[in-house]
Amino acid sequence: MIDMPAPKDILIAPSLLSADFAFLGDEVKKLEAGNADWLHFDVMDGRFVPNLSIGIPVLKSLRKVTRLPIDVHLMIVEPDNLLEAFAKAGADTLTVQAEACTHLHRTLQKIHALGCRAGVSLNPHTPIDLLEYVIDLVDFVLVMTVNPGFGGQSYIDACTPKIAHLRNHYPSLNIEVDGGIKLDTIEQAAKAGANIFVSGSGVFSSPDYAQAIGDMRRSAQGCL
Ligand code: DX5
Ligand code: ZN
Repeated sequence: MIDMPAPKDILIAPSLLSADFAFLGDEVKKLEAGNADWLHFDVMDGRFVPNLSIGIPVLKSLRKVTRLPIDVHLMIVEPDNLLEAFAKAGADTLTVQAEACTHLHRTLQKIHALGCRAGVSLNPHTPIDLLEYVIDLVDFVLVMTVNPGFGGQSYIDACTPKIAHLRNHYPSLNIEVDGGIKLDTIEQAAKAGANIFVSGSGVFSSPDYAQAIGDMRRSAQGCL
């Protein structure tokens, strides 16, 4: 199982959704050279979200070419059915959408039993209260700062107080944010208390991934 960061450690997790899939291995090498901390791997099913993306065979191939932790974000209904397959394919973390889990407690137990870190993702409208009785089983919470389904959307400002609320409630929790994170939005999420930053278009739209990752990291660290 991978080590989790301390809540004051800043991690940058580029989202592969914005990568050039024809050259995925090369893209990953560039992210490694650019000091990415985690690789964020977005799985979409056309049901939980109105889009399809990548899944188990791609994860399996990727696992062979990188030692970076692979952070698997499952934007799918009934995730329990596929947890084992994703774990076997090489996931280090498995994040489920709280809205897709009828038995969230059981799902989190299952993720741990598979040897993965467990994340719970909350859509922008989902309150943090539902974490209260499962928090001991949660390695990190993913606060969605866009409605999931597509890369390149704009950060929803109303999510910033939610990050702060979560940080106040759980001072030692790892808080990941995902959606519209780039140089001009990372500060507000970091100030509110997030410490793991997913960024798709914010990294891949730059000609220099190392610089984009470094700039975002410095900007978040400056908020501590
Ligand atoms: C959105 C995905 C994100 C997405 C982020 O549904 O969960 O991980 O790739 O992309 P950007 O950073 O471009 O908003
Ligand atoms: Zn994601």
